[in-house]
Amino acid sequence: MRRDVRTLARDLERALADLEEVLAPVGARGADAAKPGSVAEAASAMKAAVCRTAERARALIAAALADETGARAAHERDLDYLENLHPALDPVLAEVERRGREDDIPIVDRETGRFLWVLVRALRPRVVVELGTAYGYSTLWMALALPPGGRILTVDPDEERTARAAGYFVQAGVRERIEILNRPALDVLADWEAGSVDFVFIDAVKEEYSAYLRAAVPLLRPSGVLVADNLLWAHAASRSPSPQDTAATQAIRRFNGELLTHPQLAATIIPLGDGVGVAAKIA
Ligand SMILES: C[S@@+](CC[C@H](N)C(=O)[O-])C[C@H]1O[C@@H](n2cnc3c(N)ncnc32)[C@H](O)[C@@H]1O
Repeated sequence: MRRDVRTLARDLERALADLEEVLAPVGARGADAAKPGSVAEAASAMKAAVCRTAERARALIAAALADETGARAAHERDLDYLENLHPALDPVLAEVERRGREDDIPIVDRETGRFLWVLVRALRPRVVVELGTAYGYSTLWMALALPPGGRILTVDPDEERTARAAGYFVQAGVRERIEILNRPALDVLADWEAGSVDFVFIDAVKEEYSAYLRAAVPLLRPSGVLVADNLLWAHAASRSPSPQDTAATQAIRRFNGELLTHPQLAATIIPLGDGVGVAAKIA
């Protein structure tokens, strides 16, 4: 939406410049020379009207762009304010964030991590299934919130990444609560018994999100909760569909529709981090 303001402003500015160029020769010899009622006089009047319109349109563009900049600055300020209100980050989580950035590993936003932590604290799931472990950042947020006896089964075929994650789990003192499965998510989901899982977190291959949903809903117990990350997909999902859209963007849009209309789920998508879907199994 905000990006559209800039695009429209640029297009309008270009259209105004074109109009001004076309009208530049009009009245060049002086409007006074035009005879009343002549075409030249009408053209002169039209040029004056275009100049007035252009002036107002430019003022409108400036105001819209200023609003946008102000809104962005206010949003950044809100985020800083909220960040500073929270207690200091667990040092292991801080270390995973730093290492993830260095190695260019995609992990959930910190606010999404906190949201997972609160959900797990509130719901007290016994069995959590996570699709997509990477360095274990989201796993750690959930593990730090688990009730006694709770377990996380986290799935990622990348052994190098999950070996690093395992080190962080040890450092944070939660290794015994977590089982790492180095297999593709769709293989693993087929193994579990219906109704055996309390909480599912989806954050693996975007093109497979719909298939994860189909496989995960039957695994959830009644009132079980499913959460999925990246549902705004870095602002790509909300743009008008185009043939240039990546397969991942198309898959996320499809998933969002399926999640929100799923007959067995009460679901919503929160504009938190990169877009977080939350659903409860109701049937
Ligand atoms: C976005 S990252 C996960 C980030 C993690 N949830 C966090 O926030 O810390 C996605 C992970 O999915 C893993 N992945 C790739 N193919 C997969 C598959 N078929 N099944 C499960 N995970 C897969 C990748 O190796 C990658 O580490």
